[in-house]
Amino acid sequence: MSDVVPPTALSEVQLRFLCHDDIENVKLLCGDWFPIEYPDSWYQDITSNKKFFSLAATFRGGIVGMIVAEIKGRTKVHKEDGDILASSFPVDTQVAYILSLGVVKEFRKHGIGSLLLDSLKEHISTTAQDHCKAIYLHVLTTNNTAIHFYENRDFRQHHYLPYYYSIRGVLKDGFTYVLYINGGHPPWTILYPFHIGSTLASLSPCSIPQRLYRQAQSLLRSLLPWSNIASKTGIQYSRTM
Ligand SMILES: CC(C)(COP(=O)(O)OP(=O)(O)OC[C@H]1O[C@@H](n2cnc3c(N)ncnc32)[C@H](O)[C@@H]1OP(=O)(O)O)[C@@H](O)C(=O)NCCC(=O)NCCS
Repeated sequence: MSDVVPPTALSEVQLRFLCHDDIENVKLLCGDWFPIEYPDSWYQDITSNKKFFSLAATFRGGIVGMIVAEIKGRTKVHKEDGDILASSFPVDTQVAYILSLGVVKEFRKHGIGSLLLDSLKEHISTTAQDHCKAIYLHVLTTNNTAIHFYENRDFRQHHYLPYYYSIRGVLKDGFTYVLYINGGHPPWTILYPFHIGSTLASLSPCSIPQRLYRQAQSLLRSLLPWSNIASKTGIQYSRTM
């Protein structure tokens, strides 16, 4: 890819769907962007299974960014995120899960990430119409650039997920971020004292002193159902980082 990216690069960027021939290239890019290895089946899936919205941003023929998302029924959301939507929404309500969003380093801060995200929103508005009520994703708590990117685009932290990722055998914490669309909303608007999801959602490393945060983390880790799941399964390949 070009060493010097022109300031007007975005105007030359084109969008197209990923295809089978992109697999090797996409593997290299994901290896650069994310600290985990996805199995080959993941690359097969995202480039051929029509249930995925897998869009590449290209610049002069080469892939410089991509977004992969799945629009699915609310009953198919990850167990730990089952409370993304209030239960009053019908079972056929849809949500969109972003599995992957990445831009080649030299091309970042040129608007390509935003273009890809906007394209997903556009796709949702034309296909899922108003049945899709939320766009959500998982992110490592240490991925400040991505967190900043999503927060600036109105995504809000929904869950704190201790030990959510297993990266080369080391457990790392994650967040669920959600953008509500088409009138979607979570089950709660106040902090229920005994609702662990709300308790977690209210805990962010930025909002409370570090010592208290760490104490709360270790207490909550011992209570959480998915901390064991994450440590046992090794690769959580469908997760965004
Ligand atoms: C997160 C990520 C996808 C963002 O992609 P990106 O192409 O840099 O995104 P954009 O350029 O649209 O936006 C990034 C920032 O650059 C700014 N920007 C856009 N065009 C710009 C320009 N021409 N000049 C200066 N700044 C610009 C945007 O305003 C934005 O800043 P803001 O959030 O404060 O508004 C990218 O950092 C990345 O690939 N990270 C590694 C993979 C990753 O962590 N993915 C997320 C997994 S959850």
